[in-house]
Amino acid sequence: MTAPGQGAHTPAVRELDAACYHAARGFLSLLLDELPERDRVDGELVTVLGSARAALTGKPRPYWTRNVWEKPLLVEFASVGEAAKALRSIQRNWAYLPSRLHRRAALIADKLPPLPSKPKAFPFVPPNVPMGAFTLLDENTMLASPLCSSPFPNGEFEFEEDREGPPSRAYRKLWEALVVAGAHPAAGEKCVDAGASPGGWTWALARLGADVLAIDRADLEPRVAELSNVRTMRHDAFTLKPRDLGRVDWLCSDVICYPPALFEWVSSWLESGLARNFICTIKMQGAGFDKATTDRFASIPGSRIVHLWHNRHELTWINLGKDRTA
Ligand SMILES: C[S@@+](CC[C@H](N)C(=O)[O-])C[C@H]1O[C@@H](n2cnc3c(N)ncnc32)[C@H](O)[C@@H]1O
Repeated sequence: MTAPGQGAHTPAVRELDAACYHAARGFLSLLLDELPERDRVDGELVTVLGSARAALTGKPRPYWTRNVWEKPLLVEFASVGEAAKALRSIQRNWAYLPSRLHRRAALIADKLPPLPSKPKAFPFVPPNVPMGAFTLLDENTMLASPLCSSPFPNGEFEFEEDREGPPSRAYRKLWEALVVAGAHPAAGEKCVDAGASPGGWTWALARLGADVLAIDRADLEPRVAELSNVRTMRHDAFTLKPRDLGRVDWLCSDVICYPPALFEWVSSWLESGLARNFICTIKMQGAGFDKATTDRFASIPGSRIVHLWHNRHELTWINLGKDRTA
């Protein structure tokens, strides 16, 4: 990755045999553990080149990412204007990922079309237009990708929040999971919300018109518990068997527990055939990452495991009935 020679006026753009992973916010160290064969780290971006990249093909993508750069390019340029022009000539949308030379990178970003930044009202369909990303490697070299796995700039977006209805802000990660899933409970569908207190997820499900059974060892906020389509059960969710609860359209869990306990409970539901769709938070303990159990979730047919923008030290397991049986 060398700088261009003096007097270069046409940017040199070349495809890279590389995979670039933008770490989930605050979890670069966990992503680095997942990618021991990495070649370089630029800010929160981890790049794997050549044969090490080929070795990743066909494997589940690293979990602790917020965005994958799917078509990495190396762009060599002589000036800020030339860099911006090179990006604009490829496509419209480019998010700047800070790593180094911030002032120069900001000048390039200023010359690019503005990106959508308005908070989004739930539910919404993610934009179906390419979203690129770039960062500076040195004064005359950019790493860029016109295609990224996330349709949002650097994987980030905000919802239009409701500051009065929900008693916690946890509802935003359920909303994001449903946006990523491309589906949400319909009015009258039956949802179980395990680990429901104080009631953010239950509020979000009830607002969609679903019938919600909210289970927690603690009480829900009364204003959620009293909604006409919410029933509450003060109980350990994991000692309840699928046959105790019957058929459900959406089984949701935000229970704080060790991942194997969640896996065991979810497995009993899968075996019963009584739950159609699952959205569950896999919460990590301490500073660590239970990769073995996460891999077990990932191996369930039709599974997606994502680190959502609204997740913390946790991953979200999404499994829809239509994908499980496809
Ligand atoms: C992160 S909070 C859930 C927040 C909730 N999703 C919301 O939107 O407000 C985790 C909850 O799991 C509950 N919990 C922990 N172990 C549980 C268990 N075995 N059964 C039921 N609830 C449990 C806790 O009481 C706590 O209320």
